[in-house]
Amino acid sequence: MSSRKIAKSNLCSLWMKTLGHLVVLSSLNPWVSAYSERERVHDLMSRYPLIDGHNDLALQLRILHNNRLSQVDLHNVSKVATDITRLQAGHVQAQVFAVYVLCGAQEKDAVRLTLEQIDVVRRMCTEYQDFELVTSAQELKNSAMRHKIACLISIEGGHSIDSSLPALRMFYQLGVRSMALTHTCNTPWAESSSKLYKVYQRHNNSLTHFGEAVVEEMNRLGMIVDLSHTSWDTARAVLGHSKAPVIFSHSSSFSICNHSRNVPDWLLKELRKKQGLIMVNLHSKFISCKDDANISRVADHFDHIRNVIGAQSIGIGGDFEGAVSFPQGLEDVSKYPALIQELLQRNWTENDLADILRRNFLRVFEEVERVSEELSAHLPSEVQIPDKEVQNPCRLDLRHPSRKRPPSDQSPSSKAQQRPTGLLTQAVVLLISSLLLMD
Ligand SMILES: *[C@@H]1O[C@H](CO)[C@@H](O)[C@H](O)[C@H]1NC(C)=O
Ligand SMILES: *[C@@H]1O[C@H](CO)[C@@H](O)[C@H](O)[C@H]1NC(C)=O
Ligand SMILES: *[C@@H]1O[C@H](CO)[C@@H](O)[C@H](O)[C@H]1NC(C)=O
Ligand SMILES: *[C@@H]1O[C@H](CO)[C@@H](O)[C@H](O)[C@H]1NC(C)=O
Ligand SMILES: *[C@@H]1O[C@H](CO)[C@@H](O)[C@H](O)[C@H]1NC(C)=O
Ligand SMILES: [Zn+2]
Repeated sequence: MSSRKIAKSNLCSLWMKTLGHLVVLSSLNPWVSAYSERERVHDLMSRYPLIDGHNDLALQLRILHNNRLSQVDLHNVSKVATDITRLQAGHVQAQVFAVYVLCGAQEKDAVRLTLEQIDVVRRMCTEYQDFELVTSAQELKNSAMRHKIACLISIEGGHSIDSSLPALRMFYQLGVRSMALTHTCNTPWAESSSKLYKVYQRHNNSLTHFGEAVVEEMNRLGMIVDLSHTSWDTARAVLGHSKAPVIFSHSSSFSICNHSRNVPDWLLKELRKKQGLIMVNLHSKFISCKDDANISRVADHFDHIRNVIGAQSIGIGGDFEGAVSFPQGLEDVSKYPALIQELLQRNWTENDLADILRRNFLRVFEEVERVSEELSAHLPSEVQIPDKEVQNPCRLDLRHPSRKRPPSDQSPSSKAQQRPTGLLTQAVVLLISSLLLMD
């Protein structure tokens, strides 16, 4: 018998003993098996740390601190569910940060407000060593090796580009790598799942000619098209038009909870055909259609979607900071391991879990980049939205440069008189929307 064989057989008997002990221990004490299960989850999530599809921390920085980053320590932020300490505890290695501005800003200063949200995410992700701003799949993977939390920037709502492809391109230059085509308002070119704002309503035209041009330009640039918040008709039209896979960054299953923000099975199947991704939203309202929910119900969404289109089409888009109620046991970003543990208990394989934690998102991102590469010979699109399709009084009419402008010598006092009402309205809108509209 060679020495190697002896070593091997010794190792074998050691294993058998250990296993024997484990079996005895776990039958004696249920805590042991629970403990080893948690260990297994942490081991799995260390190897495949989460890429989360949606987080609204930037919105909370606006609401709570008016974007004064110096007022907070991002390692430990009270009143929110997201900070560096908890992201690390939850094995979140990459976070898509939404830059979101109220629908009320459409036709007003949506572009400025969006720039300010991009600024605050960029500051967050460059001033803190634990974060790293990334703009490609490769950079995302590199940041994992450096044990950094990668930040991706995503615009939440097409109203942010004010129907302008040059504005879209400049947002790309600032690092934006995905955009949800709508939030709770229609844009002049795409339709929302919400009927809250009665703007740009139209029949049987859920993605206009200009809307198609937006999708084409996003394909050319290499920006991920996000269909969360769009109407199903718009989602179907985009799936028919996009050359690259698309995602729902934070939506769940309509069959499990019939909320209009969730995705019905027929649409999931269309998404699958395009190799797209649905990143399941954890907000209780979309999980159980009520204000309270539990992890088991969340897992029902995962099980159902896997049955319909397979684990390769699923990701996780927590929606923390964008919604008010989360399931028991999933109250903040440190709790993701509890969800993975529930799925392991439901016999999801480690392979499936590695897919939903990160590999699916990376595959989609890389495919979006590949399509962009393929389109690199195309020039930037010069499609412009027809004037009659935007009813935006803030747009200067450039065709009449010689036209006399209305007198602008308002006295300082008349300006001052206007200000309090404006601020009050803004504050009320902010308050209402933070209570009602966020998701
Ligand atoms: C975070 O700050 C709170 C007080 O603001 C403190 O009680 C808590 O221990 C801190 N947590 C960590 C992880 O530093
Ligand atoms: C919607 O428009 C398409 C083509 O533009 C047409 O084929 C279809 O019948 C229309 N549907 C309705 C409900 O009007
Ligand atoms: C969801 O289901 C409930 C009960 O079946 C029904 O009353 C409600 O109208 C449905 N909502 C939607 C958006 O389909
Ligand atoms: C979780 O919530 C569902 C309803 O959404 C309920 O039927 C179920 O019993 C709950 N499970 C646990 C373990 O509490
Ligand atoms: C998981 O698999 C085990 C062993 O095959 C089986 O006993 C158990 O019922 C399964 N659990 C679920 C939730 O499918
Ligand atoms: Zn949202």
